[in-house]
Amino acid sequence: MTAEEIVALEFFSGIGAFSHCLDYCRFPVRVEAAFDQSEHANSTYELNFGLKPIARNLDSIRSESIPPAKMWWLSPPCTPYSRRGRQLDTDDPRSAAFLNLMSLLPHFLPDIVLLENVAGFADSRGEALLYNTFEKSGYRFGRVSLCPSLFGIPALRPRLFYIATLRGDVNIPEELGLAKPQFESSLSHRLADYLDLEAQAETYLPKPLQDRYERSLDIVEDAAGGDARAICFTSGYARTMKAGGSFLRMEDGTLRRFSPKEIVRLLGFPESFRFPLHLDLKAQWRLAGNSVDLTCLRYLLSRL
Ligand SMILES: C[S@@+](CC[C@H](N)C(=O)[O-])C[C@H]1O[C@@H](n2cnc3c(N)ncnc32)[C@H](O)[C@@H]1O
Repeated sequence: MTAEEIVALEFFSGIGAFSHCLDYCRFPVRVEAAFDQSEHANSTYELNFGLKPIARNLDSIRSESIPPAKMWWLSPPCTPYSRRGRQLDTDDPRSAAFLNLMSLLPHFLPDIVLLENVAGFADSRGEALLYNTFEKSGYRFGRVSLCPSLFGIPALRPRLFYIATLRGDVNIPEELGLAKPQFESSLSHRLADYLDLEAQAETYLPKPLQDRYERSLDIVEDAAGGDARAICFTSGYARTMKAGGSFLRMEDGTLRRFSPKEIVRLLGFPESFRFPLHLDLKAQWRLAGNSVDLTCLRYLLSRL
């Protein structure tokens, strides 16, 4: 007997991390609709999946505009909870879309809800609201802290993932801590394997910037080295010199950024993934830094 197809909604769809992972579910999943207000994200999503996301501001979307579905995936903006930000939590205007969707959830009651956010979301008012909404609606739920490095990927991106279900048969993972999850990824453990041989000129850091910031940057001195790894790339990687992601030392001593393509490769995106030609590197960096690690998400989906 073939398993029943599950219809899913992808909120804050960005460049489609969720849609890239569906093969890892033990039942067929079809994304009925994706939602994102970013034109650049939506054109990337459409190019890769042929589905045009709904370009709505989720702050104010109403239930009439949301189709019924058995599964909701949400990766709302993390800046309100990021330890590097002002941590305004639910008072941050960028939390409004998440708050709105939480108010709509009891109306829809999808069987499965998955959500991703930064470590700073733990014990926040946002997390309390999430738990409260799940509890009041009769969900069983759990939280797991994952990082691609747990699966051997040479990249750090610690994130919290939440699973809630109304169905009894979902296997909610426990906190994994530093224990290595039993999950095989086909991705390489060597950072050098994620790099392109030829780097675009725009990825190189101009000499004055290198001289000024070199001491405060996270620099990969030898990408072929066994312990080489990249720190978390953020959407501000091309904008800020502070903690936005790692830089690479080239043979001649110069520094360059990881290209957007190299970043999405580290995030587990397939080689077939493409950015639209009209998007410049800055736009691509922003989208890549905003996205979700696919190895972690695949692990999570494989547990459903
Ligand atoms: C953390 S990123 C999630 C990225 C995405 N999951 C991916 O696979 O790339 C948040 C996304 O939510 C979108 N977004 C933020 N606030 C929104 C809002 N109020 N309404 C609709 N989309 C919003 C952003 O454009 C961004 O693409």
